[in-house]
Amino acid sequence: MKTVLNIALPKGRLGEKVYAMFAAAGFPCPSIEENNRKLIFENEAVGVRYFWVKPSDVAIYVEHGAADIGVAGKDILLEYEPEVYELLDLGIGKCRMAVAAPKGFTDSLDRTLRVATKFSRIAQNYYQSIGRDIDIIHLNGSIELAPILGLSDVIVDIVETGTTLRENNLEVVENIVPISARLIANKSGFQFKNAMIEKVLQSLAGRTEICK
Ligand code: PRP
Repeated sequence: MKTVLNIALPKGRLGEKVYAMFAAAGFPCPSIEENNRKLIFENEAVGVRYFWVKPSDVAIYVEHGAADIGVAGKDILLEYEPEVYELLDLGIGKCRMAVAAPKGFTDSLDRTLRVATKFSRIAQNYYQSIGRDIDIIHLNGSIELAPILGLSDVIVDIVETGTTLRENNLEVVENIVPISARLIANKSGFQFKNAMIEKVLQSLAGRTEICK
């Protein structure tokens, strides 16, 4: 029986770009382009089965082996440290993780800095690396509100175009790490389906940059 590779794609705009890369690399699945609400699509002839999952859940599917490979943002990989192989930087979905604050903010070292974020681990690691004591306020979205309402002093969040910060009178204080979409693989799937995964990897790598 032909091996079928299970591939978790991040639902949304990034996912469409990712699928276009897979299709151009020789792994198309025409039914995925039909406009419907299905979540699973298979092209038996090519040996691929795609499914759309919430972007932050891709790594969970791959870590548990429900997907053999998938595409996740580096932000998610740094935050959750899933037990997966990171194979390739796809060079899309580029943005950065940054500290931002209300315009004119200056840090006063005689008190603990209050940091609002969805990315608690990334924020902890960053401030630990510079030896700054902080209190984390973990939020699930609309992080930019926190310093405006006095809930925090600064935020650690994703900045892409910078529009959200600008429109809320915030500015970047420090860049922490560049972010982009990464091809990841389940560790045992990588052994069992190695030939097929290598084929996908090599086909995609021609268009991108191998992970360091
Ligand atoms: C992210 C991030 C910022 C925004 C930055 O939010 O949290 O709010 O994008 O983009 P910009 O620099 O281009 O304005 P996202 O849309 O992913 O949703 P979220 O509020 O759920 O985090």
